[in-house]
Amino acid sequence: MAFNSSNHPIIQGLMRLKGMSADDLYNLIKYDLDHGVHFFDISDIYNDGECESLLGEVLTKHPELREQMIIQTKCGIVKDRENDIVYYDLSYDHIIESVNNSLKRMNIKYIDSFLLHRPDVFFSAPEVARAFATLSQEGKVLSFGVSNFPHEALKYLKDHTNIPISVNQLQLGLGHLDLVREVLNLNVNNEEGAEHTGELFFYMKRYNIVLQCWSPYQYGLFGGSIFDSPKYKECNEYLDVLARKYKTSKCAIATSFLLALGNDIQVITGSTNPKHVQESIDGTKVRLTKGEWYTLYRKTGNLLP
Ligand SMILES: NC(=O)c1ccc[n+]([C@@H]2O[C@H](COP(=O)([O-])OP(=O)(O)OC[C@H]3O[C@@H](n4cnc5c(N)ncnc54)[C@H](OP(=O)(O)O)[C@@H]3O)[C@@H](O)[C@H]2O)c1
Repeated sequence: MAFNSSNHPIIQGLMRLKGMSADDLYNLIKYDLDHGVHFFDISDIYNDGECESLLGEVLTKHPELREQMIIQTKCGIVKDRENDIVYYDLSYDHIIESVNNSLKRMNIKYIDSFLLHRPDVFFSAPEVARAFATLSQEGKVLSFGVSNFPHEALKYLKDHTNIPISVNQLQLGLGHLDLVREVLNLNVNNEEGAEHTGELFFYMKRYNIVLQCWSPYQYGLFGGSIFDSPKYKECNEYLDVLARKYKTSKCAIATSFLLALGNDIQVITGSTNPKHVQESIDGTKVRLTKGEWYTLYRKTGNLLP
């Protein structure tokens, strides 16, 4: 393991960098580092590689930052601009080529944590295992994981490699609670009881696979922020009550709600506004009671059988 997740509850997401200058990004990274956030999540696909290139620009100007940062990137989503198509590719050649391109764009010698961004239905676990072994032997990647991987695909991969699969990055937040809703609704004859994730939540706990929560404050797939959304009226009212009780912000409460699920949870904020990032960091200090956790779960429109 290149990192211990419990030391890095908050991750700075670097997906929303479009429109930022290298100086803006430098200031954000400095703010993060000065406030205890050392883990950064990016992908080769964010803004078609431009996000990695912008980070590379910052690291070239400020090489002293590199060793203070845990850099996690991903591959597997391919955009073919010429033919206007998107597809997934987890072949050996694509993985190796992607890592080499990411290293070049970010101007770094190694990647701390490397994830397969999405499962490719054609993926072969032995082939992926071979790519991981090559990258590990070459010292280009220190630690490996996946993202958006279902239960069986994760098991299939784990069965074929001795390299630990340290992370599964999944969407989880008050606006998207499928992973835990399923755990709480076994055998209940309603939509919430239907199996969507194959009990991935406890499978990951069993094998110490860190759950990194992406889009923690969004509903739907980039539907918008839950804060002050009329769709989440009751949730926001209760967030307000808890924020007043703990003398903090609603975002801090929403963050603590996720972190309460264990010390194998990390929350990836996508904000590039230091004030908002600070609210996520503040969430690491709040300890909700069990009663408050379940009430917030219900106030977000979820059934507790
Ligand atoms: N693996 C995957 O498939 C996948 C998919 C999507 C994202 N990701 C990763 O997850 C990261 C986070 O995703 P995301 O950007 O969708 O997450 P997010 O933090 O839930 O959403 C960002 C949006 O929420 C707002 N926001 C954040 N904190 C706030 C606060 N305290 N108060 C008010 N508004 C707040 C931001 O506004 P402001 O900008 O105004 O703060 C921004 O519009 C990405 O950067 C990326 O690294 C991974």
